[in-house]
Amino acid sequence: MEKLKQIYEGKAKKLFETEDPDLLIQEFKDDATAFDATKRGTIMNKGVINNKLSEKIFGLLEEKGVPTHFVKRLNDRDMLVKKVKIVPIEVTMRNIVAGGMSKLLGLDEGIILKEPVLEYHFKEDKLHDPLINEYHVRALGIATDKELEAIDKYSFKVNDELKKFFDSKGLILVDFKLEFGRYKGKVILADEVSPDTCRLWDKTTKEKLDKDRFRRDMGNVEEAYQEVLRRVME
Ligand code: TMP
Ligand code: ASP
Repeated sequence: MEKLKQIYEGKAKKLFETEDPDLLIQEFKDDATAFDATKRGTIMNKGVINNKLSEKIFGLLEEKGVPTHFVKRLNDRDMLVKKVKIVPIEVTMRNIVAGGMSKLLGLDEGIILKEPVLEYHFKEDKLHDPLINEYHVRALGIATDKELEAIDKYSFKVNDELKKFFDSKGLILVDFKLEFGRYKGKVILADEVSPDTCRLWDKTTKEKLDKDRFRRDMGNVEEAYQEVLRRVME
């Protein structure tokens, strides 16, 4: 498959048309942004690492019955994906308090939640992806009841499977963000699953091995991403 016209460039990825109208090539960049792109930088080899990690995780989720846009990895930075229409909701799942939840509710990072917390954020950077609930989603027609039901079901399933998977690699899945897309009348998991979109802590040392190292200027960002890749591929 060849890259034809570029149809989109986001903060971390580009999308290209292919000769198949149902398929796109998703290219992973090294660019990193945080806080709605007010902080910008580069994480060396991030694109290559996130492409491989997403391949592995989408593959695993497909095996467990979660449909995804993943078709196959083409090379270091490119992945063939199904062409979806993204549902403008960022779903976050939280197992442990960190980041946005710690700030919103004034809670210490690291509190273990009694049960996972699912949040919907309206995907609109200029509004800072505001927190919304299912009434907003329905009242504004952002997604149908049926779509929302599928989104919830898959999000909890992804959490269950990835918590187990990362645990077996010595990593704690603190929280993560998912995006879903519409494809041939169904909702499927899209975007990426990587240390850009998950918080991952070492199980014993609690060291952060994700994009928080970039957000918080902690250093050794590439090393952390490489470490996650090494463990996941073991
Ligand atoms: P938050 O605590 O900042 O709301 O982030 C929750 C999770 O979502 C965390 O694993 C990082 C991920 N995330 C993204 O993938 N994209 C974003 O724009 C934000 C804000 C968070
Ligand atoms: N990627 C997001 C941005 O640039 C935020 C984040 O992941 O922290 O705004």
